[in-house]
Amino acid sequence: MPENSTAKASPRRVVIAIDGPAGAGKSTVAKRLAARLGFLYIDTGAMYRAVALWAQRAGISWDNPQALEELALAADIQLESDPTRVFLNGEEVTEAIREPGISQGASKVSALGGVRRALVDKQREMAQSASVVMEGRDIGTVVFPDAAVKIFLDADPKERAGRRMLELRAKAASAPPAGEVLREIRERDDRDRNRAESPLVQAPDAELVDTTGLSIEEVEETILKIVRARTSNGSEMH
Ligand code: DC
Repeated sequence: MPENSTAKASPRRVVIAIDGPAGAGKSTVAKRLAARLGFLYIDTGAMYRAVALWAQRAGISWDNPQALEELALAADIQLESDPTRVFLNGEEVTEAIREPGISQGASKVSALGGVRRALVDKQREMAQSASVVMEGRDIGTVVFPDAAVKIFLDADPKERAGRRMLELRAKAASAPPAGEVLREIRERDDRDRNRAESPLVQAPDAELVDTTGLSIEEVEETILKIVRARTSNGSEMH
């Protein structure tokens, strides 16, 4: 694929936006896609998680929007690829931000307009110097509405909960019961889809890919076909 450009987002750079609910397969496929295309992989959920972790450690309540916005503005968040690592204020927090309490905290802080504005600015900056595969909830709708390629990944909630269970089991000997994981995913989905600020919604020009029953390879191939179709007809590239 040529090193061409997106439209207004950032000249001479390509943005592939991947949005969707938790457990739809965004991270796995976005990482593989970025490696295959030689693009930078940016996990924006990790950034909301890093702010939630800092807030939890600092004892800041989820109901204190002003203090949370200040944290988001002050946070130095660095994302590394290959292997994927996350740093908050110089400290590696790759594992710490994956704790279940932080998943709920991230969903809460991400509902706040001030926190979103601070992190969206950082996300736009990260795509200034490289072509990127960026995943999250609002990449195609808010962060890069002019992205060359927009994918909305979704899957049946039970399958998404099943994938989360496998991830949790791979990390720890015991995982919470399946019903609890499904409830947690539904609760987070509800909050992410129904908040006033940048709710999780499919952009009108995003391509829906339902990953229910598909292997990672099948999802990757489906998305690559969309990437090729959207970046080779001349309408989105300059
Ligand atoms: O993708 P994830 O599960 O790591 O995201 C953690 C939370 O952050 C999730 O509940 C929704 C929120 N989020 C968001 O609101 N906007 C993004 N661009 C990415 C994540």
